[in-house]
Amino acid sequence: MAFLQLQSILKQYSSYYYYYEQHYSTLYYLAIFGFITIFLVLNFTITKKGRKSNNLPPSPPKLPFIGNLHQLGTLPHRSFHELSKKHGPLMSLQLGQTPAIVVSSVDVAKEIIKNHDVVFSNRPQTTSERIIMYGCKDVAFAPYGDEWRQKRKICVLELLSLKRVRSFQSIREEEVAELVSSYDEIDVFAGGGDTTSTLLEWTFAELIKNPKIMKKVQEEVRNVVGYKQKIDENDVNEMEYMKCVIKEILRLHPPAPLLIPRETLSDVKLKGYDIPSKTKVYLNAWTIQRDPEIWNNPEEFIPERFEKSQIDFMGQHLELIPFGFGRRGCAGISFAIASTEHILANLLCWFDWKLPNNNNNDDDVGVTKMQDIDMCEIYGLTVCKKVPLHLQPKLYNHMGK
Ligand code: HEM
Repeated sequence: MAFLQLQSILKQYSSYYYYYEQHYSTLYYLAIFGFITIFLVLNFTITKKGRKSNNLPPSPPKLPFIGNLHQLGTLPHRSFHELSKKHGPLMSLQLGQTPAIVVSSVDVAKEIIKNHDVVFSNRPQTTSERIIMYGCKDVAFAPYGDEWRQKRKICVLELLSLKRVRSFQSIREEEVAELVSSYDEIDVFAGGGDTTSTLLEWTFAELIKNPKIMKKVQEEVRNVVGYKQKIDENDVNEMEYMKCVIKEILRLHPPAPLLIPRETLSDVKLKGYDIPSKTKVYLNAWTIQRDPEIWNNPEEFIPERFEKSQIDFMGQHLELIPFGFGRRGCAGISFAIASTEHILANLLCWFDWKLPNNNNNDDDVGVTKMQDIDMCEIYGLTVCKKVPLHLQPKLYNHMGK
């Protein structure tokens, strides 16, 4: 009897269990189905802008929501470089919610500057840029328009024109003299963070790794200066080889390898593809400046390549665009170059440079070797050396040569 009761309870229970199992598994599948539907709808809505056109440039495969974000490493110019080898010099990407294109050849850059300079002259306004860059009110991040035009005009005419930059000569001399005397006391050179100091740090790293080039450039600088106590602008203008060294550093180590991102102002056709309005535009100067179709032995540091070349970095020659180009090109080129040339000429003239002896002994133990100099990059506001460069200057006996 008890057995029969137990059996009927179990039967009842198992039928409930069966009912619940059925019910729950239906709910379970409904939940999954609902989730997938929401996921697809959201994904479609979020990437709608990027999908507006089905005639976009080639793109690597994307993941839902994040698009191509997972394909970017800590050095985006190098990630873009690798991706563009596969997908071409005009590539489209979906960076989370942001549609983007990457330009990696002179040919595409030429079409931008020739036919669409205005359309490609806006800057994207992201939250981080709004926070870091004073609400995007400065010249570099301001949206294209009258306010930007006014600010840039004031900047270029009143602060950064060649005439103004020349008029700062005496201030530059004072500052450099102070810098030179501080080296005399502190005896170690270590790199800094902004564009000009980034450029100087890469310059010294390459010169120390290439002693023949260091010797050649120092000989030039010292021959031009002779027995004078001060280096002036006319002297610097005679330092042709030093100028080639600076160009070669800007080619191999552009402080802003992706320039400052641009954004399209309207829909535009580029190389036969449809680029929607508000697409973020990365110009990969790093790739263009290492293009083996343009440069012989592009990975090598060879300042001589510029000795008989007309190529310069003012924005006319798209093979070398460390300062960008077009109406959003760098407003401070003259200022940046005048300061870099003046500082470099002084540091090369008055000092010999060597790697530090970490043991403070005269023997070779602990001496950093040229080949040990770490040339790895770190990505920030500029791309600078990951491991800061440390060098020891030795005062050069200028009078007793
Ligand atoms: C080695 C030094 C420097 C490098 C490599 C450099 C590079 C650049 C680059 C790549 C851009 C973006 C260009 C583009 O979108 O096409 C830029 C913009 C700009 N740079 Fe420089 N720069 C340097 C130094 C300076 C200095 C010293 C100043 C000012 C004193 C300056 C002022 C500006 C301004 C105002 C813009 C924004 C232009 C605009 O959006 O209208 N730069 N720079």
